Amino acid sequence: MYSAITTSIENALLLITINRPDKLNALNKTVLDELNSAVDEIYNNPSIKSAIIIGAGAKAFVAGADISEFQGLKHSEGMALAQKGQDIFKKIEDSPKPIIAAVNGFALGGGCELAMACHFRIAADNAKFGQPEVNLGLIPGYGGTQRLTQLIGKGRAIEFMITGNMLDAATALQYGLVNYVVPQEELLNKAKSILEGVNTKAPLAVGRCIKAANAVFDHTKDGYAEEVKLFGECFATEDMIEGTNAFLEKRKPNFSGK
Ligand code: COA
Repeated sequence: MYSAITTSIENALLLITINRPDKLNALNKTVLDELNSAVDEIYNNPSIKSAIIIGAGAKAFVAGADISEFQGLKHSEGMALAQKGQDIFKKIEDSPKPIIAAVNGFALGGGCELAMACHFRIAADNAKFGQPEVNLGLIPGYGGTQRLTQLIGKGRAIEFMITGNMLDAATALQYGLVNYVVPQEELLNKAKSILEGVNTKAPLAVGRCIKAANAVFDHTKDGYAEEVKLFGECFATEDMIEGTNAFLEKRKPNFSGK
């Protein structure tokens, strides 16, 4: 079905692999379009509860947007490309089902931006993060200027972008860019084990946690008011009744996602 990514579902977990290892999984038009479709699948397929994005091979998560597709683009085409990348990455960020990045090597440019659009990141010990666009006369365009600043703070973000330097996994952990650093061979299992736990929780509540956290950075929303609204909505769910009953009856809850 896809040519530049692969997908598989196991235990309600969708594994998306960006699959251009000979180009260090650079994001060309096909990858972006297929990623967009895979994210739609996360939203629409009830048998998927969460997802992991990883890069094929042992060297790279994603080494950036495909630079060969930049040549000859004009001002308006550059804007359209950024808008397209931003729209897809925003869809990842807004997904009501958790999507995490398993960063197995270089996460540069659009690759770093893709990882940052995910709900959180786990890094292999060989991971390297970077926004090296200044080396190309560019800036991050897929939301990176905003999400990097949110995640690591303005001073570090500006230094990171204007030097184009790479951060190693240990520094990324120290900056809060990633939640864990693990040996590369343990990366996927670590990501899966976290999500297998999440997949047993009440799905609508999981989605509302994401929505409330995203409201912090949405200037059109009052995050506290959003929290009140989302908290209240939980009381209209079967899962809230099931969860509280199960606790009081000293049994495990069986959530239906309703
Ligand atoms: N776009 C297009 N092709 C890319 C790419 C990108 N972002 N990143 C790597 N590739 C390609 C290389 O051109 C090369 O292709 P080739 O074998 O046909 O020549 C292949 O992937 C392997 O990359 P190579 O540069 O030979 O590997 P390396 O180990 O020497 O260097 C990097 C690794 C990541 C340091 C280097 O590839 C790099 O700097 N990539 C660009 C990073 C970047 O600027 N990203 C932001 C883009 S906005």
